Amino acid sequence: MGDRVISIMADAESVAREALSLWCRHATESVAARGAFRVLLSGGSTPRRLFQLLAEDSTMEQLPWESTHLFWGDERAVPSDHQDSNYRMTREALLNNISPPPGQVQRLEGERANLDAAAHDYQSAVAHSFGVAEDMPPPAFDLVFLGMGTDAHTASLFPNTQALNETDKWFVANEVPQLGTRRLTATYRLLNAARAVVFLVAGSDKAAPLSRVLAPTGDIVTAPSRGISPFGSLTWVIDRAAAAGIPTDCSLRISNHAG
Ligand code: 6PG
Repeated sequence: MGDRVISIMADAESVAREALSLWCRHATESVAARGAFRVLLSGGSTPRRLFQLLAEDSTMEQLPWESTHLFWGDERAVPSDHQDSNYRMTREALLNNISPPPGQVQRLEGERANLDAAAHDYQSAVAHSFGVAEDMPPPAFDLVFLGMGTDAHTASLFPNTQALNETDKWFVANEVPQLGTRRLTATYRLLNAARAVVFLVAGSDKAAPLSRVLAPTGDIVTAPSRGISPFGSLTWVIDRAAAAGIPTDCSLRISNHAG
């Protein structure tokens, strides 16, 4: 099992810049080692600034976009141009400014009427990209970005929902009664196979859920982010405001860059 560390940054901008640094490192290492960089993106609002930084000319020249494959860890049940679409946010902040080779941006099809079929087809697409069989254990993404909600959910693994119990599939459609909707989401089985998982968490409203997630004891049913324990490394990149929630008896190594 890989390293577990909490990096405390001064503010949300510093969180995004640390995330950019991690992206650059993992992209370079993955392409050197395996000839490709496969990254699973998170949704919500926190990653937007990271995507904007990735789209800046100064960054783009350093990165191996020709060997980069983009996937999403979850998606809402909306069309790709809907204001709530995670894909749309990424397209506006990043994809409109870079041109990864066709076939290397694989979005979750939240617009489909049959979300179970959409989840199954996405698993097939991921298996094809990695060159593995889709009925085998999941492949290891080089880097997985995750956010955390104020209810301690991650991806679209929400408290008290069925997807928390999925032990076989890599992606599922998940009924989320508290939102009155269904979502497409990666499962713990897929997420925990990753070589590296990075949570990006910022804001004082994340301190309380973070406290529940990092506490020495707790359960994944009410705090799903606790279920993220990857084979590889786990890095929490959080701002000072969210860091107020770190329990005094937290066992993770803490690296404070907040000054
Ligand atoms: C989504 C995300 C979700 C998100 C958290 C945090 O589709 O909403 O994948 O898991 O990461 O809700 O969202 P914020 O970054 O907006 O706080």
